[in-house]
Amino acid sequence: MTRVWRWTDHLFSFRTARPAGFRFTPGQFARLGIKADASEAEPTIWRAYSMVSGPYDEYLEYYSIVVPDGAFTSRLQHLKAGDTIFMEEQNHGFLTLERFALEGDLWMLASGTGLAPFMSMLADPLTWESFDRILLVHSVREEKELAYRKEIEGFGGHPVFGDWAQKLRYQPVVTRESTRFPNQRIPTLIQSNELESVVECPMSLERSKLMLCGNPEMVQDTRASLKQRGFVSARSSRPGQIATENYW
Ligand SMILES: Cc1cc2nc3c(=O)[nH]c(=O)nc-3n(C[C@H](O)[C@H](O)[C@H](O)COP(=O)(O)OP(=O)(O)OC[C@H]3O[C@@H](n4cnc5c(N)ncnc54)[C@H](O)[C@@H]3O)c2cc1C
Ligand SMILES: NC(=O)c1ccc[n+]([C@@H]2O[C@H](COP(=O)([O-])OP(=O)(O)OC[C@H]3O[C@@H](n4cnc5c(N)ncnc54)[C@H](OP(=O)(O)O)[C@@H]3O)[C@@H](O)[C@H]2O)c1
Repeated sequence: MTRVWRWTDHLFSFRTARPAGFRFTPGQFARLGIKADASEAEPTIWRAYSMVSGPYDEYLEYYSIVVPDGAFTSRLQHLKAGDTIFMEEQNHGFLTLERFALEGDLWMLASGTGLAPFMSMLADPLTWESFDRILLVHSVREEKELAYRKEIEGFGGHPVFGDWAQKLRYQPVVTRESTRFPNQRIPTLIQSNELESVVECPMSLERSKLMLCGNPEMVQDTRASLKQRGFVSARSSRPGQIATENYW
């Protein structure tokens, strides 16, 4: 581990060196391992983690919850720069732009740490080049959990992505406190058309590509609200507009 920093008492990010041969497509995840206790010869607890960093970054970055009593994260949260974390050098996952025709508008709908794969996509020029608009919706309980907000709001000044930054609309959703952001869940905001209204972009079967990541109930309920409007999952056997990833 080369760097660790906290967003809140139960959210943090960390970086590791990137093994020379490790390649991945933004949206994919790796399996990280830690030892249950230091006396073990090999790591014994493994969990899936989406890369936050982009395909051209020299480091790997991850964004993590701390689950109280969680076997992995209750230990992971205590690691610091210089400590060892293990990684299987194998990329996994299908929440990637390869699922879609690269045109129209890309909607990234995340809850909690489900933001991670979308940060990786935003670190890839292909994402910015391919779509007319990029709508990043991040639903959290409390405003302080809007991790990466500064980075996202700062794309306008980014040396590589700055010229495209006007394509991006970042829309926080804060569900458990009153803020200037919408405070209903994403599926409710879709059903009422409020989401489209607040980001000033219609969802359409022809133009919209929708990626959902995070809490499996959020994914399920959001998919149900999209299906009511005719959107279908993109499969290798059938084109569609929805791609999803459940974190548990
Ligand atoms: C494909 C994939 C990618 C993932 N990427 C990430 C990631 O980038 N960052 C990350 O923090 N986690 C990610 N996860 C979840 C991660 O693998 C672990 O579940 C998490 O680190 C907790 O591990 P644990 O052993 O402490 O608790 P576990 O025993 O694994 O989980 C216990 C419970 O904690 C809750 N929980 C688990 N993960 C989360 C979470 N991320 N946010 C909120 N509640 C959660 C669920 O209720 C779960 O049943 C991913 C999971 C999958 C399947
Ligand atoms: N966030 C905290 O204050 C906190 C603190 C310590 C520990 N934890 C633990 O961390 C775990 C998860 O925390 P989290 O806040 O990152 O993840 P989360 O519970 O998945 O919440 C993240 C966002 O997803 C929304 N959401 C949940 N279910 C949804 C659904 N079915 N449809 C649409 N949106 C949905 C939440 O809205 P709602 O608010 O409406 O649910 C919230 O805006 C829990 O086990 C919790 O005990 C959380």
